[in-house]
Amino acid sequence: MRLLIIGTMRGPLATAAQIAMARGATIANAESIPQGLSTLRLRGADLLFIDLRHPIDEISKAMKEDRISTPIIACGIDPSPEEAAAAIRAGAREFLPLPPDPELIAAILEAVTTEKHDLIWRDPAMEKTIRMAEAVAKSDASVLITGESGTGKEVIARLIHKSSRRSAKPFISVNCAAIPDNLLESELFGHEKGAFTGASHRRIGKFEEAHGGTLLLDEISEMDIRLQAKLLRAIQERVIDRIGGTKPVPVDLRILATSNRALPNSVAKGEFREDLYFRLNVVSLRIPALRERPQDILPLAHHFIAHFSMLNDIPERKMTADAKRKLLAAPWRGNVRELENIMHRAVLLAEGSDITPEAITLDDDPQLYRQRDIAARVVDQAETITRALVGKTVSDVEQGLILDTLDHCLGNRTQAARILGISIRTLRNKLNEYAARGIEISDGHKSQMIA
Ligand SMILES: Nc1ncnc2c1ncn2[C@@H]1O[C@H](COP(=O)(O)OP(=O)(O)OP(=O)(O)O)[C@@H](O)[C@H]1O
Ligand SMILES: [Mg+2]
Repeated sequence: MRLLIIGTMRGPLATAAQIAMARGATIANAESIPQGLSTLRLRGADLLFIDLRHPIDEISKAMKEDRISTPIIACGIDPSPEEAAAAIRAGAREFLPLPPDPELIAAILEAVTTEKHDLIWRDPAMEKTIRMAEAVAKSDASVLITGESGTGKEVIARLIHKSSRRSAKPFISVNCAAIPDNLLESELFGHEKGAFTGASHRRIGKFEEAHGGTLLLDEISEMDIRLQAKLLRAIQERVIDRIGGTKPVPVDLRILATSNRALPNSVAKGEFREDLYFRLNVVSLRIPALRERPQDILPLAHHFIAHFSMLNDIPERKMTADAKRKLLAAPWRGNVRELENIMHRAVLLAEGSDITPEAITLDDDPQLYRQRDIAARVVDQAETITRALVGKTVSDVEQGLILDTLDHCLGNRTQAARILGISIRTLRNKLNEYAARGIEISDGHKSQMIA
């Protein structure tokens, strides 16, 4: 945990720093907002404590402009409720009254590190995935994490980082889909002052920020193909070029990537570089959809009830048997994220002593789901087909196609030849050739040939 403190390190603020350090945080200090911003740009931080005497709206605005999302905690001595409210309005996530209460600092640090990163599972399907994640975590191999939206790809990426030898170093994640193409390069590799209009300061990119640790390239399938070439160089040569920089900067990190699209399809369409795909896909980890691991539904639901009850300061309610049945019967197209949202609503909506089925409002728009389902199935099938083909020779594939088509046409050669776009004579020759090689042809084929 890298904590940046903006303010004078004396008195209660210094005590706060000591408490945080005792809890394992590393501390950087800046006396002013420009100095603090410069630390954020050049080194990054996981959490920011700022003395209330500095204008929080100013740093919050500058951070937003630079897309720096470090949570801000405002600190002040005996604050009035108005001061605390103003700090929150200006962009602070929390208010820490000084002199600091060690328990409160511990809770804030914990909230940032474990913020929604708990990992709950019971189903054997997930158990297998998690064991595999832990096993590959020990190596430095790149891992491609795939799975439907909301299955927990990011949660697994964090688990890999935490179980790796890099766990004490930063875990940095970049959502490639959320950042416009023209900004993503600078986001990843950084830029020098004056490298382009608007580059008023040097800023390091996520590669440098993750130095020593793990970089998660989220939704990598959405990355522009030109940038993919630069990414490949960075991964292969372990150096990056800041935009406008004159010499390459060495970086040491582990790359994880996620995608909820089938990358082999993007490769086939020329939208994703094959060499990059192979670089990233040293190990691939598929996170099962929630409906493929039904035993996880209730433990996750209980976990979310506890989490949101605590967060909203509501006593924790139990679910009735009917409410549980309703959850178990739902289709969960939106996976764990959908369950999380539903349980959040249930916690807020529940009245009386229990959570009843009425409090559980499923996001079921059948039309929408049907469309998504069809699209997902087509992608899945295409992926399976491509996977099945890789590593085969053209004649293997041809043979499979011919025999399958013939089966499909119940042995009718004329129809099969038409579908295959070859002459009946060619088809017959091929079948004879397969039979001569001792390939087992179903009776249907043989009887056709003899006939
Ligand atoms: N096994 C789990 N235990 C606890 N929480 C989980 C688990 N899996 C997912 N979640 C929660 O569900 C939400 C979605 O998870 P996450 O962001 O990792 O999914 P994702 O696969 O990356 O989704 P997307 O494809 O939309 O980016 C998060 O809030 C996460 O904390
Ligand atoms: Mg994600």
